[in-house]
Amino acid sequence: MSQVHVIDHPMIQHKLSIMRDKETGSKDFRQLLEEISLLMGYEITRDIPLMDKEIETPICKMTAKKVSGRKLAIVPILRAGMGMVEGLHTLVPVAKVGHIGLYRDEKTHEPVVYYCKLPEDIQERLVIVTDPMLATGGSSCDALKMLKERGCTNIRLMCLVAAPEGIARVQAEHPDVDIYVAAVDDHLNEDAYIVPGLGDAGDRIFGTK
Ligand code: PRP
Ligand code: URA
Repeated sequence: MSQVHVIDHPMIQHKLSIMRDKETGSKDFRQLLEEISLLMGYEITRDIPLMDKEIETPICKMTAKKVSGRKLAIVPILRAGMGMVEGLHTLVPVAKVGHIGLYRDEKTHEPVVYYCKLPEDIQERLVIVTDPMLATGGSSCDALKMLKERGCTNIRLMCLVAAPEGIARVQAEHPDVDIYVAAVDDHLNEDAYIVPGLGDAGDRIFGTK
């Protein structure tokens, strides 16, 4: 069974509360999502292996630490996952970025795939899939399946707000994928929106409603 990491640092909770407020506009919403993504990125990359590297400071030679091992790929689920890329990229500027385009059908709530473009060597990378909302889990599960079909074996899922239903589905279908979230909310409503949630993340990021 995969682990659920709830990254509820006080600064993250504070910023998330501002995002949840319906009076918060797109500009602030985007900015806060970027900031939280960077802060969550610290936890997601906490166990990345280091290697020794001989360097010379202006004072003397030393054995310094550098990141080693598998390279990183960030894979946002379009559209809303895009809002989490910049924060992670600030932390790991050399990370490659792939894109998976999915939207939820408004009636069935089932995900529909419309785009997939990934780095050629994606299967060699630690992949961080980003999507602010984990509701029914359908979109995330489909994205994780697509990545596994392309040979990825080391994947983490990074969301902002999750419903218990979505967590349970990802854990059932992808028990090897750890989930990182800032908050686990109460439930889904009849439209499969997270309660209390923050509304439609894509619309709030891009100002489309
Ligand atoms: C939202 C969200 C997730 C999905 C979550 O995307 O960003 O991708 O819904 O719901 P699920 O867990 O029930 O699948 P949406 O389909 O609204 O597309 P958008 O990001 O383009 O707005
Ligand atoms: N997608 C969103 O953007 N918000 C929800 O609450 C559920 C799915």
